[in-house]
Amino acid sequence: MKIAMIGTGYVGLVSGVCFSDFGHEVFCVDKDASKIERLENGEVPIYEPGLDALMARNVEAGRLSFTTDLAKALQDVDAVFIAVGTPTRRGDGHADLTYVMAAAEEVARVAPHGVVIVTKSTVPVGTNRKVAETVRAANPDLDFDVASNPEFLREGAAIDDFMKPDRVVVGVESERAAKVMSDIYRPLYLRDFPIVTTDLESAEMIKYAANAFLAIKITFINEVAALCEKVGADVKQVSRGIGLDGRIGPKFLHAGPGYGGSCFPKDTKALARIGQEHASPMRITETVIDVNEEIKRRMIGKLKDLCGDNFNGKRVAVLGVTFKPNTDDMRDAPALTIVPALVGGGAEVRVCDPQGKREGERLLPGVSWIADPYDAAQDADLLVILTEWNEFRALDLEAMSKTMRRAAMADLRNVYDPVDVKSAGFAAYIGVGRGDLEG
Ligand SMILES: NC(=O)c1ccc[n+]([C@@H]2O[C@H](COP(=O)([O-])OP(=O)(O)OC[C@H]3O[C@@H](n4cnc5c(N)ncnc54)[C@H](O)[C@@H]3O)[C@@H](O)[C@H]2O)c1
Repeated sequence: MKIAMIGTGYVGLVSGVCFSDFGHEVFCVDKDASKIERLENGEVPIYEPGLDALMARNVEAGRLSFTTDLAKALQDVDAVFIAVGTPTRRGDGHADLTYVMAAAEEVARVAPHGVVIVTKSTVPVGTNRKVAETVRAANPDLDFDVASNPEFLREGAAIDDFMKPDRVVVGVESERAAKVMSDIYRPLYLRDFPIVTTDLESAEMIKYAANAFLAIKITFINEVAALCEKVGADVKQVSRGIGLDGRIGPKFLHAGPGYGGSCFPKDTKALARIGQEHASPMRITETVIDVNEEIKRRMIGKLKDLCGDNFNGKRVAVLGVTFKPNTDDMRDAPALTIVPALVGGGAEVRVCDPQGKREGERLLPGVSWIADPYDAAQDADLLVILTEWNEFRALDLEAMSKTMRRAAMADLRNVYDPVDVKSAGFAAYIGVGRGDLEG
């Protein structure tokens, strides 16, 4: 198959590279000329484990190319995927469809007859039909079909998720589109990965319902964690105790500083908005959005408790600022709420993150970036573990505590055992939803 992928971000680039690895001929297109230039030079503009090697292999095999020229990319294609951003629209929480509709219009002008226009971006129910209308308006003679193919990959594990998905969702309303989509995903059909074929609206809805459900699950355990602190329970034990129930499952039950990232915050807001527009309020989702904001603020209170209620003049080492490990993505990361509160309160903040600096430097003014976690903690009054990168999971706490001015730890991912922290010389430890140790 011949495929064009519009947008070379976290989803478009991974999808394009993986499709080429399936054996298809793929052209990845982006408006951002500097991104395309880097890609043409063999450089991956984002951090995603394993992507550089897979990309190099498929470029070498002649199946994968990059361009800013849409007309060139669309020559003779069977399908064109739209994988551009759908951020929150300023003011009303709706998904901003500007980029999707602009891409649809551009496609209409240069696409070949018989093309399937596939929306991979996360879009509100009804968008695929709007894409079809936009294309028809821009080029009434074009013979085309639309398909909805929402993406479920997770940053940091994106290649595995794409190659071995829990399921692939395909929304279609014509035999021709169904055939093209099944040819594209044939390698996965052959390996018995479930392919869920639906109408357009259901496919669009599945994506939002899935993300909202996961955000609800995380927020539920975060709220339970707050209650655990009050009643003397340990949320880690509670998570294990409920997660072993097959109806609940153990995933997304790790208490922490609130969800963030490029999807959950914007997709929960968009779903709430869709519900309001259809007079069918998504009240649980709306509440989760509010509770998640409170959870992030609650973390600031925890840090204050460890700093004698005052950040002023304190040196704070923050380990991890990306919204989760194994990505450089900083979009809506809890760090963007927590770190400015430290800086604003007068703390000297020293940040260490294996991949966060490139984006973070712009987003977190007033902090210093330190490559080594031990250097970051030197003479600090507080050590905050905010993102659980592997690099921070087995620190020599004894060595670290000795170099700190006052060895206190806020472990916002519950990485360490409070008793071990204390015996490594820390005077104080605060986790999330478990017993604190005050010195
Ligand atoms: N990031 C994730 O983990 C993830 C997972 C599942 C689904 N999604 C969804 O996938 C979509 C893309 O997300 P992302 O994180 O990859 O976005 P991104 O911001 O990383 O990438 C979008 C890219 O599209 C390019 N672009 C925009 N308009 C264009 C146009 N008209 N022509 C060519 N290129 C254009 C931009 O330059 C950018 O490089 C969103 O709808 C998102 O909700 C994201």
